[in-house]
Amino acid sequence: MTYDFDRLIDRRRTDSQKWQTYGPDVLPLWIADMDFQSPEPVIRALRERVEHGVFGYLTFEQPEFHQLFADRLLKRYGWRVSPDAVVLIPGVIPGFNVAGRVLAASGDGVILQTPVYPPILRAAGNMGLTREEALLARRPDGSYEVDVNAFAAAIRDRTRFFLLCNPHNPVGRVFRRDELERLAEVCLRRSLTIVADEIHCELTYSGHRHTPIASLDPEIAERTITLMAPSKTFNLAGLKCSVAIITNAALRERFVAARVDLVSTVNVLGYTAAYAAYRDGQPWHDGTLFGRGGEGFVRLNFGCPRATLTEALDRMREALMRDRPARV
Ligand SMILES: Cc1ncc(COP(=O)(O)O)c(C=O)c1O
Repeated sequence: MTYDFDRLIDRRRTDSQKWQTYGPDVLPLWIADMDFQSPEPVIRALRERVEHGVFGYLTFEQPEFHQLFADRLLKRYGWRVSPDAVVLIPGVIPGFNVAGRVLAASGDGVILQTPVYPPILRAAGNMGLTREEALLARRPDGSYEVDVNAFAAAIRDRTRFFLLCNPHNPVGRVFRRDELERLAEVCLRRSLTIVADEIHCELTYSGHRHTPIASLDPEIAERTITLMAPSKTFNLAGLKCSVAIITNAALRERFVAARVDLVSTVNVLGYTAAYAAYRDGQPWHDGTLFGRGGEGFVRLNFGCPRATLTEALDRMREALMRDRPARV
């Protein structure tokens, strides 16, 4: 099947955060959603569900979805988890905020690697926790890598969990297995739980392989809450359906209990879209590219038709040339 990723789709009148936050003369290349239609099987599944016309509560447990997702983890990462380990949650951000409430109490700490996605930075404040920051090391070529010594040094006695972002937003790195192993080893030594925001795990460039940190070792899995979603992969962010993978049954029970009245479960359309995307959306996904910049850079989301990107780059060139001092 072929897809037309060059088609221009007008999103300005669709209540789109990306297209309506700034004025009509601005070409938005910021927030991480794409200007492409979702896969056709997803649209079809949604249409059928909408035509049914009854949108009552969704049951909490979705055995078919859980099995499909567990199969996906095995296929993509060689990570075998029981379908029971899969928990639906309406967003990765709610996921790590619920996790934090399970793992830490006021005055405890969370460690993270900066620079990092703003909602990850905000999480500590939401929960009355202290924020321990370990800087990622900047290489001479401008890319970033894990600094395990800085990470270990930033941990305090009351640090309870590590809020990992991998693939990392905004530095755009897919951390190597050895980097993850060293981070995990420190977490084991210091008895930290890991909350892994892996929302971008299916948007890696060829040649880079994502490793879920929990897949390194069963001992690591026992102390990890992994968060993934079809939202970035299949452009479903507005439908709010994400997944937590928690293999430790006691931890999972606490997470589910903390979730229950706070964010409840996902909505019927989000669930319908996620299921269709994971089951039938792969051919669409195999065309997909996405990337973001880091500190000192501007973010450019090129998940848009070629003509939009070309126009944006032309406008940038024009603006930069205009502001350049004249040569003498
Ligand atoms: C690292 C990271 N986590 C989470 C999110 C958003 O998650 P959700 O919309 O599922 O809450 C984003 C969106 O850009 C992200 O980049």
